[in-house]
Amino acid sequence: EIYLNGLTGAVPRLPTDLTRLEEMVARRLGPGPTAYVAGSAGSGTTERANRAALDRWQILPRMLRDVHKRDLTVDVLGRRLPAPLALGPVGVLSILHPDAEIAAVRAAAAQGVPFVASSAASTTLEQIAEAAGDGERWFQLYWPKDREVTLSFLARAKAAGYTALVVTLDTWLLAWRPRDLDQAYLPFLRGVGTANYFADPAFRAGLTKPVEEDLNAAVLHFVQMFADPSKTWDDLAFLRDNWDGPIVLKGILHPDDARRAADGGMDGVIVSNHGGRQVNGSIGAADALPRVVDAVGEQIDVLFDSGIRTGDDIFKALALGARAVLLGRPYAYGLALDGQAGVEHVIRALLAEFELTLALSGYSAPGQLTSEALVDAAR
Ligand code: FNR
Repeated sequence: EIYLNGLTGAVPRLPTDLTRLEEMVARRLGPGPTAYVAGSAGSGTTERANRAALDRWQILPRMLRDVHKRDLTVDVLGRRLPAPLALGPVGVLSILHPDAEIAAVRAAAAQGVPFVASSAASTTLEQIAEAAGDGERWFQLYWPKDREVTLSFLARAKAAGYTALVVTLDTWLLAWRPRDLDQAYLPFLRGVGTANYFADPAFRAGLTKPVEEDLNAAVLHFVQMFADPSKTWDDLAFLRDNWDGPIVLKGILHPDDARRAADGGMDGVIVSNHGGRQVNGSIGAADALPRVVDAVGEQIDVLFDSGIRTGDDIFKALALGARAVLLGRPYAYGLALDGQAGVEHVIRALLAEFELTLALSGYSAPGQLTSEALVDAAR
């Protein structure tokens, strides 16, 4: 399609090499938002490890295997998806574009990929659901300290048609993020990313003055409510008892944690290190993937994020045993540069590159990929 458009002189509005988006965003946005979205924890070692863990593998293409018919569909959490891709939870999107989550979820729905709405979205989960229409949506929970607020979030998500619950476990505390610290820039302290909380009846019941009258007190309450680092595996039963759809734990890296998730009745895990934004010096997410797949891949769905930038990255994650991947920064960059159209561009470019990589390597469906398709470049 892009080549054919080229016949008439039309070229894409954004680069088709998605790795170029970050520098374009840096030129477009102010230093605060740029650092927040592009930055990572500490000295950036984990973010680089995410790339190294994917780059370490090389695809070993096979020839003459009839790939003229291709089928990208995958079954994830009991539902058929058109492709092994979802837009992962990214909070505070209004720092990047005024249409924020609404533009992003419309793009996801238009392209048929699930959208994971963040607890820390700049728009309420109800507004996101409305914009999604029939589009598949999952709700990401930053598990609040207060049971009533947690139950209220779950009830609201259910009522708004979210099919799966994604519980993020790696962010009880915000990590040491030097680029944000050096600018004293944190969107939440400006009341961005608090929409779900400020609209919540159980949250508001905990305030002495209405949000509208005392924003500072409301933000402080949000910070206290946001998460509870004293939670343990025993607390999971509470979520299992109060959510009757699939639950996925996000931020799993250790195979024993994956086993605990499966034993606790979870339906999936997302192998992720939050895009290198939490524990600096930790394992590259793709290096953690094979062991998690060995531990629980037969029982529950193993999904993957952290470092996906290209179609061949998706190929590698699937060959290492992930059922599907989630995207973080690349779609946020697409949003920052061109709103809904920018997010759609990112999804389409990534999936087109994935399909070409699949076919040119001798495969016609994600289910055919195994580690046989890869070689370890380091050996
Ligand atoms: C995130 N991520 C994230 N995760 C989550 O569970 N809830 C959230 O609200 C957010 N917010 C968020 C904001 C920004 C600006 C970024 C970049 C990331 C993490 C996200 O879901 C995902 O794990 C990583 O972004 C994946 O890595 P890549 O694709 O960015 O390398």
